[in-house]
Amino acid sequence: MGREHGFQRPAESFAITKAKRVHLPDRLFERRINNFRLFLVSKISISNPAPVERGVSEVDKASKSSAKLLKAQNAADYHLEVELKEPSDQQLPREVFSKPNSVNAFSKRMVNEPVILEEAEVRDQQGEVISMAVLQDMVSKAKQNLEKAYCTYSKFHVGASLLTTKGQFDGVNVENASYGLTICAERSAMCSAISQHGKHEFRAIAIATTSPHDTWAAPCGACRQFLVEFGDFPVILTNNKDEKVKIIKTKELLPDCFCPDDM
Ligand code: THU
Repeated sequence: MGREHGFQRPAESFAITKAKRVHLPDRLFERRINNFRLFLVSKISISNPAPVERGVSEVDKASKSSAKLLKAQNAADYHLEVELKEPSDQQLPREVFSKPNSVNAFSKRMVNEPVILEEAEVRDQQGEVISMAVLQDMVSKAKQNLEKAYCTYSKFHVGASLLTTKGQFDGVNVENASYGLTICAERSAMCSAISQHGKHEFRAIAIATTSPHDTWAAPCGACRQFLVEFGDFPVILTNNKDEKVKIIKTKELLPDCFCPDDM
């Protein structure tokens, strides 16, 4: 039994070929399904004991949608029947599947490696592809926002552009003489979206910084907690040294997080 993201991996649940009945004690399997969903999950249905008010219809309808699966996971303890089909050779390199730790290999390749934005396919929480024009616009807005950062103490500019179902929202870091009251760009953007439209769905966020290093500066711990409050959606990190971006999902930034489902 390997450990991944601090969870115990149930040996049975990971086979890739045939329909299986798996026990889901927590959110672990959801992550796996998320990792594989585009290629592998052909049918998902809840069997007994199904928590009727949370999940069944969402999952039945959803099939391939991680967001809907996520809602189904509100239940603490239930079974899913998952039918997994093998991917074709074109979809994913075969050697990924021959390794016992294939999920890690897969998510590293697909999620954490720097990529050229134009070559990436980015999906929101509903599994909808976000158009390239919108992604490019988000990245350029995040960069444009750098100028507006109020970072008089650190001189470290951060700009964000949050895409939601209600539009795009800007954010910058706003520092304070007391230092500790500083608000990060990501949280500014999220607060702006909620302030204008109340709670609604966040689709993705792009973040730019003035980091002089050859890195993709990622959200701080507080921002990660704030991000997962609104679900598992893509975070696009830019780099000042080249055109590549890193795309990572909020719950990958904060594995085993405390989130609304726990309350
Ligand atoms: N900062 C952000 O805006 N977002 C992050 O996730 C990391 C840090 C800001 C806060 C502060 O104004 C400056 O960057 C240096 O920490």
